[in-house]
Amino acid sequence: MHKIIVAGCGMMSGTWIKHAKNREDSQIVALVDIIPERAEAQKKEYALSANTYASITEALEKEDATIVFDITVPSAHYDVVTTSLRAGCHVFGEKPMSDSLEKSEKMVECANETKKEYFVMQNRRYIPQLYALRNFLHTKTLGKIGQVSANFQLDPHFGGFREEMDSPLIADMAIHTFDACRFLTGKNAVSVYCHEFNPFWSWYQGNASAICVFEMEDGSVFDYRGSWCANGLNTSWESEWRIACENGAVFWDGAEKLYYDATADGAAKTGISDENEITSSFREIAPMPMANTYHDACINEMFAALQSGTRPQTDCRDNIHSIRMVYKAIESAKTKKTVFF
Ligand SMILES: NC(=O)c1ccc[n+]([C@@H]2O[C@H](COP(=O)([O-])OP(=O)(O)OC[C@H]3O[C@@H](n4cnc5c(N)ncnc54)[C@H](O)[C@@H]3O)[C@@H](O)[C@H]2O)c1
Repeated sequence: MHKIIVAGCGMMSGTWIKHAKNREDSQIVALVDIIPERAEAQKKEYALSANTYASITEALEKEDATIVFDITVPSAHYDVVTTSLRAGCHVFGEKPMSDSLEKSEKMVECANETKKEYFVMQNRRYIPQLYALRNFLHTKTLGKIGQVSANFQLDPHFGGFREEMDSPLIADMAIHTFDACRFLTGKNAVSVYCHEFNPFWSWYQGNASAICVFEMEDGSVFDYRGSWCANGLNTSWESEWRIACENGAVFWDGAEKLYYDATADGAAKTGISDENEITSSFREIAPMPMANTYHDACINEMFAALQSGTRPQTDCRDNIHSIRMVYKAIESAKTKKTVFF
C-alpha cells in the first residue's frame, strides 16, 4: 500500500486527491499546507481520515509515508521535493520542476543521490489527438520535420501567484507547449531566442506574452507565439499547431481538428499556386483511443513505473530538457541574445 502525503492543498490538489482516493493501492495519510485551513478544507471536502500539518518536514517525521505529491507553488517545489526525497519518499510533483534551472538540476541530482524517484506532471501529453499526431509524425508519411509552430492565445484571470510572477506565461504555462514539442518530435532544443513583453492591457505584473524561436538538435525550428492576456480569437489550452515536413504539413487546432495535407505523392511541384485557390485535399488523422487522459493518465503511468521499476516518460531526468527550454527562453528575453544550451 502506498502511503501518500499531499503537500499543497490549493486549486490543483483536488485532481490529485480524487485520483489517489480512487486507487486501491494507495492511502492519503497526511495533508500539508502552510495555510492550515486549506489542508483542513480538503480533508473535509474529500472525507479523508488523514492528519493535517503546516510543514512538510513535520509531516515526514510523523508519518510513515512512501510517496509525496508536491502540489505547492513553483517557488516551494525545490524545498518540498528535496526534503521529501532525503526523507526516503518518492515524489510525484506538479510542473514546473522549480522556479530556476539551477534548482531543477539540483532536484535531479538529489533524486540520483537518494536513489528515489521524482516524476513530474505533464498532463498535457496525455491527449488522444496529440498521441495520434506524434504517432503520425513517427511514420514519416510526410518525411522529415522542418518546422514546428505553436500558437497559444488565452485570457485567464487566475488571481494568485501567476499575476505576480515576472514571466507568468513562460515560467508557468509554456512548459506544457515546449514539452509537447519534444514529445511530438523526440528532439531536444539546442538554442533559443525569446522576446517577452507585457501588452499594455495586461492584468499581469510580469510579461504575459512571448515569441520564442528554438533550434532543435536535428536543425529543425520550433517557433512559439503565446499570450495569457489574449483579447479574443482564443486558441485551445493545447495551442494551435502546424508542423511543416518535407512532403506536406500537419495541422492540429489543439482540440478536435487534426489533419494533414501531402504534396502530390512527393512529386516535384512547379509553377505558382493561385493564391485564392484551395487546392488541398486534407486527410484526417483519427485520435488515438486512450483509457485515461490528462492527470489520471500521467499519474497512472507514475504508479505503474514505480511498480515495475521502470521510469515514466515524465521522469525528472527527461523533464529537465523541457524546463531547460523555459529558463533558457527567460535568459534570452532578459539578455536580448540567442542563448545556447
Ligand atoms: N498541470 C496542470 O495543468 C496545472 C494546472 C494548474 C496548476 N498547476 C501547478 O500546480 C501547482 C499548484 O498550483 P495551484 O493552482 O494549485 O496553486 P494554489 O496557489 O492554488 O495552491 C498552492 C498551495 O500550496 C501551498 N503552499 C505553498 N508553499 C507551501 C509549502 N512550502 N508547503 C506546503 N504548502 C505550500 C499554498 O498555501 C497553496 O494552498 C503549481 O506548480 C502549478 O504550476 C498545474
